[in-house]
Formats: sequence, structure tokens, C-alpha cells
Amino acid sequence: MNTGPRDRRREQRALLAHGTSDHYVDPELYDFEYHERLGDVMWYRGLTRRTGPVSGGPRSILELGAGTGRITIPLLTDGHAVTALDRMRTMLDALERKLALESRQDARARLRLVLADMRALPLPDSSFELVIAPFNTLQHLYTADELLRCFREVARVLVPGGTFAFDVMLPDLDWLTWDPTRRHAVTPFVHPRTGARLIYSTNHHYDAHTQVCHIRIYYDDDTPTARARLEHGDAPEPEPRELVHLAHRQIFPEELRALLPAAGLTLDRLEGDFRGLRLGEEIESMVAVSHKPR
Ligand SMILES: C[S@@+](CC[C@H](N)C(=O)[O-])C[C@H]1O[C@@H](n2cnc3c(N)ncnc32)[C@H](O)[C@@H]1O
Repeated sequence: MNTGPRDRRREQRALLAHGTSDHYVDPELYDFEYHERLGDVMWYRGLTRRTGPVSGGPRSILELGAGTGRITIPLLTDGHAVTALDRMRTMLDALERKLALESRQDARARLRLVLADMRALPLPDSSFELVIAPFNTLQHLYTADELLRCFREVARVLVPGGTFAFDVMLPDLDWLTWDPTRRHAVTPFVHPRTGARLIYSTNHHYDAHTQVCHIRIYYDDDTPTARARLEHGDAPEPEPRELVHLAHRQIFPEELRALLPAAGLTLDRLEGDFRGLRLGEEIESMVAVSHKPR
């Protein structure tokens, strides 16, 4: 049995490694699960129009954690030049396949794919007018120090006057402390690639010491027994066909107000849900816009 501090650290590292990768090994399923998330796509498109190019011509944009291109492809369609960076080849390959399906040779010519870690950008200084990190990507940095390293890299690659925008979840202490054994969001669905009939459900455990929320996403075979058990919470639970771990560090507003300036960036706006709302109880996403001073 693992009990010592070294074992616990090893377990924690393994959990974080799974929590950074598991959710991104099946890009078709990822796109299926988030196909209704459109508000952020519109917001990032609008941002590129509002902030305008520093030096004329199409904007040079760096997207951290570009994934399958949910945001990248619309930005390419709008005529921008996008460097899509991600640590998962599965996600970048899916992005490239999706763009190929759209037969947009011109858009492909404006796309650069970079397989790298956002804490160490293999990119030259002052080379982007806009850096974005959409959809909770920064929550995969598991300490304040890692976040600061990333912010410093962003400041380095931005041109003076350039913009850095991102969104992360606003920590919700009520949600974070839900019963970690109960399944939520129980949803039957058909896997978009394999055609398997499955039931999606989740639960999570919040480690207040590290500020990391460990989300478990269960994929159970869709049988009448499994449905009854999951929908009515009867024990024992079915053995899932697949269990996906997703680890998200919770980032509090005050951390951003401290870490962005520490990296040489000025925070201009911190608001809610892509609608300019004041941060409060009902807000899910915290949207930050900052810039590198000239
Ligand atoms: C929630 S997805 C967001 C993908 C895309 N931006 C979107 O809006 O759909 C987070 C992405 O960040 C990537 N990621 C996580 N940690 C990373 C790191 N340290 N460096 C680069 N990419 C990372 C993941 O592989 C994943 O594709």
C-alpha cells in the first residue's frame, strides 16, 4: 500500500500527467463534446477585429493550447496568420485534418503548427501581435510558478503594445466541494467515430492544498442497468468502459492581478462569460485581456 510522502508525490505526478493528456487523446470525441460551445469562438473573433493590427496586414496570432482548432480555424478563415501551439500531437493532427477537409489552401498557408510546451516557447522575441489561450488551457499549469513562467514567455514573444487574452474557469467553491462520489451530467450518447452507445457522466475531487480539481469523466456502456444505476444513483456503480482524468488548477482573480504584472504585462480587463460581466456567483468563465506596454 502506498502511504509515504514520496509515494504520494509519485501518485500526484501520475495523476497530473493523466489529467493533462487523457482528455486530448480522442480529438473527435473532444470536438463532439464541445460542439455547442460557440460564445468563446465569437468572442475571440471579435477581439481580433477590435484590437486591430499593430503593423497593418493580417494579424500574427499565437494560440497556446490550440487543440483541434475550434478557435484557430475561424481565425484562419478571418484571414489571420495563426501559430497553433500544443503539447499533444493528436490534437494538432486533428486540426490539420479538419482544415484539409475545408479545402482552404490559403488558410493552410497561414497556419503554423508547433508541438511544444507553453512554458518554454520555441519562438522568437517580439514576434506576435496577439497571444491567446482559450478554454481553460492555462489551468493545465499546476503551480503559480508554472503560470508565471508561461506569462513571461508570452511577454517575451509579444510585440510592444501587443495583446494577451485568455479565459479560465472562475473558481466556484460550491461546485468544487460537491460530493465526489456522486455522478453528474449523466448523458447517453453515440460515440462519433466508433458508433458505440455510451453514457457520459462526471464527478470531481478538489484538492484545496494544491488548488487542483481532479475531474473524472466516465464512459459507461449504455445498458438499461447502467442507466438505472447512474440516473438514480443506486449503488454499486457499473465498471466504466473508460475513465478519463482531467486535472484543472483553479486560478483565483487575485493571482492574475499579481502574476500578469510580475511578468511585465498590464491587465486591462477581467470579466465574466464573454459578455463583459462583473465576476460573481453566476459566472463560469473568467476572461482576461492584458497587454505588453510599449
Ligand atoms: C481545453 S483544450 C483547449 C483547446 C482549444 N484551444 C479549444 O478552445 O478547444 C486545452 C489544450 O491545451 C493543451 N495543453 C495542455 N497543457 C499544455 C502545455 N503545457 N503546453 C501546450 N499545450 C498544452 C492540451 O493538449 C489541449 O489541447
